[in-house]
Amino acid sequence: MDAETGTLDIIAVLTAQHRRLAAVLERCDGPATTAEDAATIKQALAAVGDHLAVEEAWLYPEVRIDVPHGQLWADRELAEHADAGKLIDELSSLHWKHWLFHPTLSTLRCHLDVHFAEEEQSLFPVLLQTCSRRRRLELGRQVVHADCLRAQA
Ligand SMILES: [Fe+2]
Repeated sequence: MDAETGTLDIIAVLTAQHRRLAAVLERCDGPATTAEDAATIKQALAAVGDHLAVEEAWLYPEVRIDVPHGQLWADRELAEHADAGKLIDELSSLHWKHWLFHPTLSTLRCHLDVHFAEEEQSLFPVLLQTCSRRRRLELGRQVVHADCLRAQA
């Protein structure tokens, strides 16, 4: 965090989002037994979709520019997002009482756990070295701003 402005850099913002989403998905990862559970899962899936969109808009374009082999790395991350998106689409098309719903949700959760860990352990440390602090703070502000706009919509 920037001591003067209280701004978080993009790595801190996205890592916090990972933690929140992982916790929400962990709470959801059991067979849904009520319509209320299903509504909570739907909200969690929307939050995952928002997070993926934010990374695609603000993180990966920067990775392409700043990180060695960034094109390859960004394409790999996008492919993982596409896999997550397919699982989210499948879940959206299934009734929560369908026998495939819970296994599909568990698969998504595992997929995201691996994806988040890879970003935090491999990608973010490189970005920390290659992207200036000023730029990381600027991107962090943009991500927070985009989240605020989405929350108001
Ligand atoms: Fe990602």
